[in-house]
Amino acid sequence: MNLLDLLFAGSRQASYQRAMANTRSRGITETDADAHRRIARELEPERGGFPFGTIGRDASPVRLPDETALASSLVIGASGSGKTRFILNLMQRAIERSLLSSADPLPVELELVDPKQETFDLLSQYIVALWLAADGATRERIASAVRVIDWSRDAVTPVAPFDNSAGEVSNTYLAYLRTDVAIQAGAHSYSGALRQAFFMFACVLVERRFPPNYRFAMRFLDDETYRRRILEGVADADVRAFFEEAKHSLPKQTRDALLRRIQSDMSFPEVRLSVGIPPPDLDRLLPRRATPIVLGNYGSSMTLPLAKGKERASYRLIDVLLSAPRRDPRRRGLLVIDESPMLLSEENELTAALMEGARTLRSAGMGVLFAAQDFANALPSQIVRTLMLNTRWWAVFQSREEAEWIYPHIARSPSDTSDADRHREFVRTVQNLRRQHFYLYVKGHSALPLRAPDVGDPAVRSAAELRAVFRREIASRSTIAARTAVDLIAKWEAEVVDGVSVPPAPLPSKARSPRGIDQLMKDLGLGK
Ligand SMILES: Nc1ncnc2c1ncn2[C@@H]1O[C@H](COP(=O)(O)OP(=O)(O)OP(=O)(O)O)[C@@H](O)[C@H]1O
Ligand SMILES: [Mg+2]
Repeated sequence: MNLLDLLFAGSRQASYQRAMANTRSRGITETDADAHRRIARELEPERGGFPFGTIGRDASPVRLPDETALASSLVIGASGSGKTRFILNLMQRAIERSLLSSADPLPVELELVDPKQETFDLLSQYIVALWLAADGATRERIASAVRVIDWSRDAVTPVAPFDNSAGEVSNTYLAYLRTDVAIQAGAHSYSGALRQAFFMFACVLVERRFPPNYRFAMRFLDDETYRRRILEGVADADVRAFFEEAKHSLPKQTRDALLRRIQSDMSFPEVRLSVGIPPPDLDRLLPRRATPIVLGNYGSSMTLPLAKGKERASYRLIDVLLSAPRRDPRRRGLLVIDESPMLLSEENELTAALMEGARTLRSAGMGVLFAAQDFANALPSQIVRTLMLNTRWWAVFQSREEAEWIYPHIARSPSDTSDADRHREFVRTVQNLRRQHFYLYVKGHSALPLRAPDVGDPAVRSAAELRAVFRREIASRSTIAARTAVDLIAKWEAEVVDGVSVPPAPLPSKARSPRGIDQLMKDLGLGK
């Protein structure tokens, strides 16, 4: 018995009995059962792999080979049908194998983007349960493998959306990407002029390595002498010209609207503290360490507008995509996007790159798992089609429209029923699937009716205690206290906004030759 089994052993016996009863009540004929067993055997790797669930009366386990399990995929199903638990099973096994297993090790990089917080919360409880059960050296291995992206009023993960020190793309393109997703994430409408001003201002921040800051924006826009001094450190002639000619290029109405947007963004402490720390301070505070597991909570809880969580998740996804083509393909990667339609509903730069990335990142050893209650109605049909084409397998839990996606792929045993009847019955079956039951369709194979592996809650401590230990022992390595952030921001304002001397412009990034949009699109297979 491994650690996972020990932690979650409680409900196993009961659920096995339930599974037997469920399978019996579905009345599968022997011929169907035989076909399913054959398909399951075709899918199965020689050894190891990932457990995807059980099949048939005897609940025999079905496993997928690593490269299939971690390939791009869709996980679909109504609320409460079992998507989150299914994803947790997959991530838990990956974490266990990458951090703890000597019998079946698998180096893996995992990134969770959770716009709803629940998957993040359950996975952090699981990780801390592993941590509690481990010895000292293993605890260190676990804690140093995990980076947490989270924000609250007490502690934040600092991020520097306008810092281009990684040099993956040009300064201008980074500013463009950030502006594009920030505008789309927000609920406000933007005039063409405001969009332009927002973009140009982002260019200044990137070039100067400045954090977004309301007081800086105000002085920069109001004080011409100050503005000229700041612009001396901006290399891009177009950006300089735009602000040097501010009288014409930036009418008062646009200037006011820009300031209002910045002010309203920065009025949320979680936002101000996490994006407001000057990038050079961040280099010092939290050395950029590469961690194999990144857990991002983009749920906006009760204190933040939804748009802010969406914006932050989109920023992070952009960073993941930008660095993906340079990753080591021998180390498998999985990017999990729960509630993915929240981030994909618009046709923007990010959506295009993500959908195409689902296919092309395979050569970088990376898959993208998109989860949703409903793809067919939540997303434009063009996006749905691309997702269907570019993914390797689909897990369809209780759902309506998506039953039609699976029907062409079910095993057909000889029977007296007409095609139309069979079709109707199948759709009804998928609409009424019990929680934890799903159809698994792996391209190239017929679909299988499975019951997902049991994933209970760690029973070692209460959820509240687990959360507290997680914050203290694991999350604290990637977050900083709100007080520290407040002090750093105040110091920066005193020097740069109120001070007489403006720091010299940063040296051009010497990391790599930055890629422009063309190169990025090429890397992601969107080549022109
Ligand atoms: N594999 C499983 N093992 C144990 N319990 C499960 C499993 N799948 C589902 N459940 C039970 O069903 C509930 C709902 O499952 P889950 O949260 O995974 O649904 P979901 O599809 O993610 O729903 P939502 O769309 O609302 O997020 C769980 O809280 C749990 O009680
Ligand atoms: Mg869920």
